[in-house]
Amino acid sequence: MRYCIANWKMNLNISESIDFIRSLSKKNLQNNKTTIILSPSFTSLSDVSKGLKKTKIQLGAQNVNSNTHGSYTGEISVSMLKEFECGWVILGHSERRQYFNEEDVILNDKLNTVLANGLNPILCIGESFDQRKNNETFSVLKHQLDIALNNIEIGNNKILLAYEPVWAIGTGLAATTDIISEVINYLKEYLMQNFSLNIPILYGGSVSKENSSAIIDIKGVDGFLIGTSSLDVNEFYDIYLNMIKR
Ligand code: PGA
Repeated sequence: MRYCIANWKMNLNISESIDFIRSLSKKNLQNNKTTIILSPSFTSLSDVSKGLKKTKIQLGAQNVNSNTHGSYTGEISVSMLKEFECGWVILGHSERRQYFNEEDVILNDKLNTVLANGLNPILCIGESFDQRKNNETFSVLKHQLDIALNNIEIGNNKILLAYEPVWAIGTGLAATTDIISEVINYLKEYLMQNFSLNIPILYGGSVSKENSSAIIDIKGVDGFLIGTSSLDVNEFYDIYLNMIKR
């Protein structure tokens, strides 16, 4: 199975989200080897969930709290997400790490809560520009995985890993196919050897209709996490088409 995932971040209000779904669901989405997941803002989850009812498109959230309930002003719990039949949740996006101090230990707590409550996590990892320049890419990725995945129990849930180099996010400069291939190979091997995990690995960071064919052709790339190009329904659909053609 391949995954074509939209991360709308803090874009698209309710009416814009509904317009997007109306346009997308009129298109041919019959390929059963590629799952589309839309991740709107919390405020749009309810309406998007209703809008997706008769479609095969799945729903994701962009974050969740590690506690199941309690005095955490402004936060959202797993049971709140489940009320909207939201099956997926993005964890550890670099913007959350950078602006909201989300550290790997917090992600480990979040993963535990998400998995224990039957949601499927999409865990994001990636190195910064300086870390790549200093040849620290693999040690950074290893560190992020070691802490986030420590003692997690996946059970019957699915878990996806998204490799998103921070320097490629929102910059229009996707990683080269050589870099993506090298990192994906490393991650596959590391996950198998250290966690006995064989899970889908996605690429994210300036994915577009122009570069998506070349990236999906890379062995081991199981899909995309798409930010900017997911805000335009036609661009997003073009990426989906490039995925199902290969
Ligand atoms: P981008 O964002 O496609 O705009 O680079 C990707 C992401 O942040 O997941």
